[in-house]
Amino acid sequence: MQSLLNKKIVLGISGGIAAYKTPELARLLIQEGASVQVVMTEAAQQFVTSVTMQALTGNPVFTSQWDNSISNNMAHIELSRSADIILIAPTSADLMAKLSLGLADDLLSTLCLARDCPLLIAPAMNKQMWEHAATQRSADRLHHDGVTLLGPASGFQACGEVGMGRMLEPAEISEQVIAFFQKKSLVGKKVLITAGPTFEAIDPVRGITNHSSGKMGFAIARAALEAGAQVRLIAGPCDLPTPLEATGKIIRTNVVSAKEMHAATLAATDCDVFFAVAAVADWGIAKPAKEKIKRQGDGAPNMEFVANPDILLDVAKTVKTKSGKPSPYCVGFAAESTDLEKHADEKLKRKGIPMIVGNIGPDTFGSDFNQLLVMDASGSKKIAKAEKLHLARQLIQLVAKKI
Ligand code: C5P
Repeated sequence: MQSLLNKKIVLGISGGIAAYKTPELARLLIQEGASVQVVMTEAAQQFVTSVTMQALTGNPVFTSQWDNSISNNMAHIELSRSADIILIAPTSADLMAKLSLGLADDLLSTLCLARDCPLLIAPAMNKQMWEHAATQRSADRLHHDGVTLLGPASGFQACGEVGMGRMLEPAEISEQVIAFFQKKSLVGKKVLITAGPTFEAIDPVRGITNHSSGKMGFAIARAALEAGAQVRLIAGPCDLPTPLEATGKIIRTNVVSAKEMHAATLAATDCDVFFAVAAVADWGIAKPAKEKIKRQGDGAPNMEFVANPDILLDVAKTVKTKSGKPSPYCVGFAAESTDLEKHADEKLKRKGIPMIVGNIGPDTFGSDFNQLLVMDASGSKKIAKAEKLHLARQLIQLVAKKI
């Protein structure tokens, strides 16, 4: 699934060392289905060549407002009229200052002033330049003018210093551009999500766990962020990057055991929606051994199990009775080996939740694809096989309508 299909992006490049990453950004945007038209300032051409950008995008690169290859010689009007967005990466301190004042002395700045589409900028500069009052003023003004600032991030800089001003990585910029185009159905809402497996220690080196890559829960976190929500992600042991981390709208808590997940989740129930996506181990070991249990011939150790708390049940129950406020809208998940519909319906009733989502098919674990059966009081609805992110976006829209 390409998330930027049919989108036309004017990709501006200004003069900064981070421009060496812009070819990679162009490639990612194109991979997602966008058509990319590059416009470069004179300084940008010191860092990356127009030939590179032309070869990658398959489109001629514009570098001058005096380019007579545009039929009416109005590149600044033509280019922005056909674009869905203008994205500038990197955006130098100089260009930010110009844009904030409405100056237009080259093709890229003129294009921005003449545009009738949204402008997204990814600032990149030395930390002193970023922190300078003049640049902060530019950033505030641009924000006030409706320009979307992507980053910058903090970290190592080309000049050898460490601090704010690094351009976001191409993958982060591309993710944020994709997010920009999604329907904003959860603005102002708080979403809590459990994801991944839990791990119950037997001893310091062994344990029991469940099949779960965390991909579905993380996809839901990303889709909720894309829809404008503030997200709290409680993740069991899984090796996935935090989605849209650079937006600062997601807080991730890593946990190991079901008990830890229970405590972290119950402490975060001040939310509008709760997605219980985690595959929580139903039982833990009563007394995990402090040292590794040694083999004793052919014998096997006896182990006592104890039931773990049911996180979803407790969120649905506790919040309702404790604060008197309506509980978050709770969405449970069901992965079954038989009779999915029957078991899912039973869970819906037992946990007293308004919606449950069944994973259809045996091949969902670890896969990027899934098929869902969504059940609530109004009946059940299938969401056809697709990438988990695509399913998550559909699920978010369904839930947004319910709240
Ligand atoms: O039947 P089960 O209790 O496993 O139902 C699965 C649903 O309940 C999932 O949404 C899962 O995240 C949640 N669950 C939970 N805590 C448990 C067990 C399951 O939140 N201890």
